[in-house]
Amino acid sequence: MLPTTSRTPSPSPASTSTSASASASAPAHAPGETAESWRDLPAAQQPEWPDPDALRQVVTGLAKAPGLVLAQECDRLKRRLGAVARGEAFLLQGGDCAETLSGVSGEAIEAKLRTLLQMAVVLTHAASVPVVKVGRVAGQYGKPRSRPTETRDGVTLPVYRGDAVNSPEFTPEARRADPGRLRRVYEASAATLNLVRAFAAGGAADLEQAHTWNRGFIDDSPAGRRYTALSDEVSRALRFMAACGVRPHELRAVEFFASHEGLLLEYEAALTRADSRTGLPYATSGHLLWIGERTRALDGAHVEFFSRIRNPVAVKLGPDATADEALAYAERLNPLGEEGRLTFVVRMGADRVRERLPALVEKVTANSVPVAWVCDPMHGNTFEAASGHKTRRFEDIMDEVQGFFDVHAALGTHAGGIHVELTGDDVTECVGGGGNVREADLHRRYETACDPRLNHTQSLELAFLTAQMLRRRKGREQAARS
Ligand code: TRP
Ligand code: MN
Repeated sequence: MLPTTSRTPSPSPASTSTSASASASAPAHAPGETAESWRDLPAAQQPEWPDPDALRQVVTGLAKAPGLVLAQECDRLKRRLGAVARGEAFLLQGGDCAETLSGVSGEAIEAKLRTLLQMAVVLTHAASVPVVKVGRVAGQYGKPRSRPTETRDGVTLPVYRGDAVNSPEFTPEARRADPGRLRRVYEASAATLNLVRAFAAGGAADLEQAHTWNRGFIDDSPAGRRYTALSDEVSRALRFMAACGVRPHELRAVEFFASHEGLLLEYEAALTRADSRTGLPYATSGHLLWIGERTRALDGAHVEFFSRIRNPVAVKLGPDATADEALAYAERLNPLGEEGRLTFVVRMGADRVRERLPALVEKVTANSVPVAWVCDPMHGNTFEAASGHKTRRFEDIMDEVQGFFDVHAALGTHAGGIHVELTGDDVTECVGGGGNVREADLHRRYETACDPRLNHTQSLELAFLTAQMLRRRKGREQAARS
């Protein structure tokens, strides 16, 4: 362990005198010195790379490679999240628990995107609130684990840490941390983002296509039929507007952002670039990065790294997070009090959210810290089925979302969004919902590389139920204003 003592709170990352001089002396593409301070601190959940030379080679290559996103785009998302913090927009963040290199296919990416767009239409339609769309996509390849090793039949090997690090098969070769995978993850993320951008900007995401997004899904569920009815209504509204001579180009493309857990600091640091406009460092691996529940130590490397980058950032808060910790994150990660810079993604569990969340929200609000509050109803509701499958109940997931909305309604604050693990495929990983997946069905299509995801039908259903809550939130806010 590296020493953690005698660290005074770091100065605001906007005190640019240091970053300017550091980038002046650094080679053109090297990450600015300001994004390297994490190296002096203990970094949780990092793999042991057995071949440091190979790691250095890969990281040097990544430091020269083009960034995947632009600082301007990150700033735009930050503005959108500012609207979420003010209660003027709602965040929909979703995607796989863990992306896999072998899972990168056009069909899978398109199905995931169409699912998210369908959910976005449902949410936007219900409450006439803008929805900020963010995928857990193009970088979600590193996983924190509860133990560094795994033992089977007396054999102990390093644990699987996601496709960015190693491979899940239980052999010494598969479990060896291979830095070449960081490069492959970068390439897979670039290819994914390329398709996402084409889809979002081209005709496929045009609202007039909303009725086609349900095509190809095996979906004779109530949620599927409800979506068809809703998209017909949207089409009618668009035809009406067109007949009136209005055809806003805002409806033809969708604004979509990419996010992942900023877990593997070698990867994130290598892809950090100084913004050419300001010289300030941005992680260019994705628009929004978050710190996980297992790596949020205040004196740890992750918080330090995140304090230096200028992207919008999020912190996951579990049931044991304290109000003082929340304030400390605000101080470390958002010393300037910028709206949209900091999002708290709370994942308390359906049985605890009503009891644990209020203290956090109250203290943060009392201190006038601008944050967006987002509900992750997945990670606090995982259990093992009798068959041994890790699963989640749809009813628990919805109960946590409801609890999250209830807490904010009671406190007069804003339920800002949802963060969910989902896939466009017809998997059987979570139980319950309209398609009524039972525990006995789990083995049929259990394909996740990590946690259980909502399938397409369950995702749509979640969107409809959340839309109802959002409509009530909007109604209450309108009543309060008039
Ligand atoms: N551009 C708007 C938006 O991003 C409207 C829009 C176009 C849209 N295509 C969409 C909304 C698909 C949801 C889904 O919100
Ligand atoms: Mn997960």
